[in-house]
Amino acid sequence: MKRKISDAHQKAVIDHYTRSGLESLVERAYEQANMHHLAHEDTAPLDEFHIRGRTATRELAELAGLKSGMTVLDLGCGIGGPARTLAAEYGCFVTGVDIMKEYCRTAAMLTERVGLQDRVSFHCRDMMTHPFEQGEFDAVWTIHTIMNIENKELLFNNIHRTLKPSGVFSLYEICAGGSPEQVYPVPWANDPSINFLADINSLRKMLIETGFDEIQWIDVTGVSLNWYEKQVARRRTKTEKAAFKPGVDLVMGETTREKMENVVRNMRENRIRVVQGVFRKAG
Ligand SMILES: C[S@@+](CC[C@H](N)C(=O)[O-])C[C@H]1O[C@@H](n2cnc3c(N)ncnc32)[C@H](O)[C@@H]1O
Repeated sequence: MKRKISDAHQKAVIDHYTRSGLESLVERAYEQANMHHLAHEDTAPLDEFHIRGRTATRELAELAGLKSGMTVLDLGCGIGGPARTLAAEYGCFVTGVDIMKEYCRTAAMLTERVGLQDRVSFHCRDMMTHPFEQGEFDAVWTIHTIMNIENKELLFNNIHRTLKPSGVFSLYEICAGGSPEQVYPVPWANDPSINFLADINSLRKMLIETGFDEIQWIDVTGVSLNWYEKQVARRRTKTEKAAFKPGVDLVMGETTREKMENVVRNMRENRIRVVQGVFRKAG
């Protein structure tokens, strides 16, 4: 029987994502780039910590049919890019949950700076111990996060419970490909200890068995590889440095390039796949 979550696992996840002083690093980077007044559009290169950035966030929001006034729980919200996009562009009220204190602090700072604090709030918690109230949210979503979650069954049951009747669960995740092992480091893990990639078909089946009806299930590995190859190639050119804007490297740390190159290799060698899914609470 899988445990709910161990202290060692929690610590390993926190160690992996820790960027000491991230909030000040981000503030300094915007100062140095002479970006003193920030608008939501300015932060996209930095705060959408997933493949295909804000474009993918919008795509998932459209697929999920998110609308003005809906309440959304964003699990593993990072520094809040997707949460702010749902608030700024779709009029949602978003509660973000992330295990990283410094990410939540940075998320709150950026949210204030772009003036979305009335619509978006952040809570520093392990999503496995989050107090999921019954029938609280119109929608739950998670982007590039459950790769770190071992007990997905428990998580999906909690998500199902916290949704209102007919509520929507959307996910945009990395799954295991046909080749069994991944090449490290990758953005979500430096080694196998916190890497819990589900097989793409098992993940889909698990969601249906939890009590969700499938609305969308799209394998987006091809377009993801295309995008990532361009990102890696662009980083190799000098012009990228000349037009410096604070980017996701600040969150991913010193090994950003290596991690990105490994994502490309893992996709090319069918070690990982990328999927978008939208489900409705059945019954
Ligand atoms: C690759 S980042 C994605 C962040 C965000 N969803 C985005 O797309 O910008 C994965 C995030 O999941 C968070 N995370 C991983 N395990 C978690 C857990 N058990 N509880 C809460 N957050 C978790 C990490 O701290 C990290 O911020």
